[in-house]
Amino acid sequence: MADKLAEARFFDEDYSTGKRLVVGHVYSIIQNRNDCYENLIFKDPAGQRVLEYGCGTGSRSFELARRGAEVVGIDISPVGVARATERAANEGLKKASFEVMDAENMTFPDDSFDLVIGEGILHHLDLEKSYREVSRVLKPTGRAVFQEPLGHNPAIEIFRRLTPSLRTKDEHPLHRSDLKMAERYFADVKVTCFHLTSFPALVFRRTRLFRPTVDALDRLDAAIFRLVPPARYLAWYAVIVLANPRKI
Ligand SMILES: C[S@@+](CC[C@H](N)C(=O)[O-])C[C@H]1O[C@@H](n2cnc3c(N)ncnc32)[C@H](O)[C@@H]1O
Repeated sequence: MADKLAEARFFDEDYSTGKRLVVGHVYSIIQNRNDCYENLIFKDPAGQRVLEYGCGTGSRSFELARRGAEVVGIDISPVGVARATERAANEGLKKASFEVMDAENMTFPDDSFDLVIGEGILHHLDLEKSYREVSRVLKPTGRAVFQEPLGHNPAIEIFRRLTPSLRTKDEHPLHRSDLKMAERYFADVKVTCFHLTSFPALVFRRTRLFRPTVDALDRLDAAIFRLVPPARYLAWYAVIVLANPRKI
């Protein structure tokens, strides 16, 4: 079972000091994954009731509220929630609110949301509890969209082990079996993987070659995953769409 107090303390400190920003440059390769995620979550948001699950300092909630959604963000970090609340107030976003809440035991009634979104949150949670909770609070016609790190690539796993101070002790990048488990709680599960060969593009980060190299390597990844489907589990990240909640 995850040590939730330790999770909250880790992220309270991170949101106060920005300690994880030292690896921020690695995230410069994620544009195409981000576009995929945004195309899914910003599709017709007006009038929708949206939950940002593990929202940290507010993440996509502000943009969703600007686009007319009614958004609630939850997180176990009081510092993250305070930051998000302050920013929403500063930006006059009345349709975005934030609460400290445990994602595995939410207080929302059943069938509350049209859309649940989350970035880098599932891999901090007990997945049985979390899939069940997301399925419970989604309306039957609703869907959930996540982007989450994967845990099968040996090189990425070595990097993670060499940088323990950037991670909580309970986080667990997802395995194939974790994605399979989602099928117990959702009749439709779609997984799109990103970043198998993208990392060498970082060499060109400060040059004009960077974007075309990232795009070419993302296309190469897509071709590899089409030709050898199991290779996608060696990717760094997955965009996961869960629909038709089974409500078990
Ligand atoms: C990697 S951060 C991602 C934050 C945000 N989604 C973003 O992209 O900036 C993971 C978040 O999960 C939150 N978290 C971890 N365990 C949680 C739990 N049991 N309930 C709610 N939030 C939790 C942490 O506090 C942290 O804000």
